[in-house]
Amino acid sequence: GAPVRVALLGCGVVGSSVARLLTEHADDLAARVGAPLELVGIAVRRPQRPRPDVPVDPSLFTADAEELVTRADVVVEVIGGIDPARGLILRAMEHGAGVVSANKALVAEDGPTLFEAAARNGVDLYYEAAVAGAIPILRPVRESLAGDRVRRVMGIVNGTTNFVLDKMDVSGAGFAETVEEAQALGYAEADPTADVEGFDAAAKAAILASLAFHTRVSSAHVHREGITEVSAADIRAARENDCVVKLLAICERVTASGSDAVSVRVHPAMVPRSHPLASVREAFNAVFVEAEAAGELMFYGRGAGGDPTASAVLGDLVAVARQRVSGGHGPGESAYADLPVVDLGQA
Ligand code: HSE
Repeated sequence: GAPVRVALLGCGVVGSSVARLLTEHADDLAARVGAPLELVGIAVRRPQRPRPDVPVDPSLFTADAEELVTRADVVVEVIGGIDPARGLILRAMEHGAGVVSANKALVAEDGPTLFEAAARNGVDLYYEAAVAGAIPILRPVRESLAGDRVRRVMGIVNGTTNFVLDKMDVSGAGFAETVEEAQALGYAEADPTADVEGFDAAAKAAILASLAFHTRVSSAHVHREGITEVSAADIRAARENDCVVKLLAICERVTASGSDAVSVRVHPAMVPRSHPLASVREAFNAVFVEAEAAGELMFYGRGAGGDPTASAVLGDLVAVARQRVSGGHGPGESAYADLPVVDLGQA
């Protein structure tokens, strides 16, 4: 078929992995999509900067993202943050492009604006990479479990904080040096405050809760506490009780004042060493799902880093590009219930 034109917005840790894998796996991807994926441009702030790790024609780099999104069939947004990402995604959709985004902050803060724009313009929006990196978790929750009734989603969804807590537990390492190590390994957000204060996990919890309970939960609804107050003494105390400290995201269906509601929270928790979540080491993530008919499900894998996150981005890209080739559409968003979100604090 005719090539599917792909525009990449952002070329940081994730973007450079996407560009490299797109180039290295070009033949496989073309076979899976039924048409070649043609990278038509990469929007970055400084197009002249040498990027030896990104094996593409340097003339593909541009500072003009606004123009780039108008000449693509699929736009891949890996800039992160609210603006300018939001405006560029909306503009891409208005010009008829499908969108793949890894942007948890944006989807969690203003998802409905994006979903409505996708529906209005008849284009697809996929964001598997926004939650738990390489782990396929959004499609299973939104699609595979759409016929079930999810009771609870609980997990470790931030690699940086898990890395820090794990190092503090194993080697008694200090907080600041461990955060720097996570940054150097490409796990942390550009500003690691989002990781250690729990904002990143809260955004992911909001997205998981929205899909699991078919309701609208935004990051502002999430009860959030990060790990900055976790001391070496807390970790020792946990160890003495045969526990480890983990930053957990917990999304639950609850009853409040006699009616259905949801509770979504992120906070450090003491996890018994015998619990499977206690064995999630370094920057790995894990998500447990409890559904009425399915019972317990567990998802585990790499939740941060360039290549693992790029794997999820490319999976979405193949899905959107296939729809382009076949003229069909992805699953779209479920019709929403409007469940209240209650703050139960730390249970
Ligand atoms: N900073 C995030 C983390 C990256 O540490 O998990 C993946 O979203």
